[in-house]
Amino acid sequence: MNQFYSKNNHSLNGILEVPGDKSISQRALILGAMTIGTTKIKGISYSEDVNNLIKNLKLLGVKIIKKKNELNIIGVGIGGFDYSKKSLYMGNSGTATRLMLGALCNQNFETKITGDKSLSKRNMLNLINQLKKMGAQIKSNNNKLPISIKGISESMPIIYNQKIPSAQIKSAVLLASLNTPGITTIKENLETRNHTEILLKMLGANIKIKKNKNNNEITIIGQKELKAKNILISGDPSSAAIIGAAALIIPKSKIKIKNVNINNTRISFFNILKKMNANITISNKKIISNEKVADITFKSSNLKGIHLTSKNVATMIDEIPIFSILASFSNGISSFTGGNQLKNKESNRIKSLYEGLKALNIKVFKKNDGLKIIGNKLIKDNKNIKIKSYYDHRIAMSFLIMSLAYKKKIIIDNIECINTSFPNFFKSIKKLGAKI
Ligand code: S3P
Repeated sequence: MNQFYSKNNHSLNGILEVPGDKSISQRALILGAMTIGTTKIKGISYSEDVNNLIKNLKLLGVKIIKKKNELNIIGVGIGGFDYSKKSLYMGNSGTATRLMLGALCNQNFETKITGDKSLSKRNMLNLINQLKKMGAQIKSNNNKLPISIKGISESMPIIYNQKIPSAQIKSAVLLASLNTPGITTIKENLETRNHTEILLKMLGANIKIKKNKNNNEITIIGQKELKAKNILISGDPSSAAIIGAAALIIPKSKIKIKNVNINNTRISFFNILKKMNANITISNKKIISNEKVADITFKSSNLKGIHLTSKNVATMIDEIPIFSILASFSNGISSFTGGNQLKNKESNRIKSLYEGLKALNIKVFKKNDGLKIIGNKLIKDNKNIKIKSYYDHRIAMSFLIMSLAYKKKIIIDNIECINTSFPNFFKSIKKLGAKI
């Protein structure tokens, strides 16, 4: 068991970049594989999740060449994967699992998908139901991994009315629809990250997005060839959120994170921070590969509590752990609701956060789908505490950030899970001056 604790709370200062966005990296790889031509990707995140996905695409016959600063994918077209006798091992990645199930819905052979202990506990029922309607035959272990999928060369169009917000399921249905003769419709009641839609548009798919008053309606007509393009991946806002949060709670800190993705569906956390009185500025805005990008500067702040709605939670699903840490350091009460999806993440995040905060003597109350946190800038930090990460990278990193502002030791278990999304995490935080 790999444990970690920090020694102090030195101020953080400097300029850095975070790894390329994990969601875009995974989508660029899968969609690159489904195009005709060579996709050249720069800025990809070589996290464990992404490395596993590269291996899996190679098993399906896709040629991927890693160069110094670039990755080249020779696309096989929609429905062009080869049969793999070996099962695809997804490690810890729910995103890669769901997206690949969608992509494999276009293949008329059986593929088996497996994952690590934590991924194998995650429920896939919602997606399985949609893909079955589109014509896939699916065998599973009670709706969990291992899952075997046998797709269909021309999947059926469906109308999918999404009740529980999930970008992964939305994206999987979009990928499954790429060889569908006819219109597939997805009605999204709460907006989630839209990188799949952006990339599909860029690669020439026949996709339309209509913003209605109560939902987004995405329609896609399949059987249109995708054409390879060069893709430049911007910094992961979820990783920037973690590092930036440290500067907010550690006195006399100022850091700038360059080239962060600020897509409207990913920027909620930073907007919420502003409402919490955080000293952050967004500068140098530009567009890179059809995504909005900017530099973000974070300075030590006197934070105040805030209440989040389900709409907020849907667009900051990965930032809820670090938000909860910041809420503990804020003046006043904070809360969030509408977080049912958080229970089916790398860990049950409501439970992991509740237990961790409670161990730290923070006043926290569990609700059915959220938490209420009574903030207190003067957290009593007079004893060493042990926290369980439950092998969840975002839980591990969030409590590590808390430990930087805590005078005694916070000992966190199984921190190697951080490699699934942020392999340079320790290097980055040390570069800014953290003594760990
Ligand atoms: C992701 C979507 C989110 C997020 C996950 C990455 C994606 O999950 O939590 O880390 O890349 O599509 P949902 O499917 O719950 O939106």
